[in-house]
Amino acid sequence: MALKSLLLFSLLIAGTAVPLAEAQPGGILGPLLGLLRIQGILYCTPNGNIGVNATATPVFPNALVQLQCGGNVVSTATTNGSGLFSILLDPVNFLLSTLVSGCKLVVNTPLASCNASLPSVGGLVSNLQFIGSTLTGLLNVGTLIPSGFQFNANVN
Ligand SMILES: *[C@@H]1O[C@H](CO)[C@@H](O)[C@H](O)[C@H]1NC(C)=O
Ligand SMILES: *[C@@H]1O[C@H](CO)[C@@H](O)[C@H](O)[C@H]1NC(C)=O
Ligand SMILES: *[C@@H]1O[C@H](CO)[C@@H](O)[C@H](O)[C@H]1NC(C)=O
Repeated sequence: MALKSLLLFSLLIAGTAVPLAEAQPGGILGPLLGLLRIQGILYCTPNGNIGVNATATPVFPNALVQLQCGGNVVSTATTNGSGLFSILLDPVNFLLSTLVSGCKLVVNTPLASCNASLPSVGGLVSNLQFIGSTLTGLLNVGTLIPSGFQFNANVN
């Protein structure tokens, strides 16, 4: 009798486990991302990118980095003393494909604020590039980086 109810219990578990597994969006959309992170380092150079002297290149601290999608600012971050910025997004609200194809990073803090010899108007713009995802604890974190900043005199 006990064995019979155990068997029935196992069947019930097995019966419910299958639909649960199928309900995982990961099965249809690829690995399920728990978090999207956009990160990079902004440098105090005419184009915001790392210079020929590599890590000796001065960084651009306290710059406001905007994530713009379809012309709208959807998130912002400020670079820290190491020029580093990081924007975290909920993948429920952002599709990876949209971030790569329809969004860009815009820096309108003038370059002159980190080096007076650099322009005091205009700003930096970069598209985004997906570099992969890593499992951090239980969260699969997808990381995007700037594909390369360019100076744009019309950014304001
Ligand atoms: C790179 O470093 C050398 C040696 O310190 C220096 O003379 C040169 O100006 C630096 N170049 C740039 C672009 O900062
Ligand atoms: C900038 O942030 C990074 C990552 O959190 C950290 O490792 C670094 O020490 C920070 N730099 C400064 C100057 O606070
Ligand atoms: C400031 O920018 C100018 C022009 O790019 C460059 O020659 C100079 O080395 C920079 N100064 C510092 C302290 O990085």
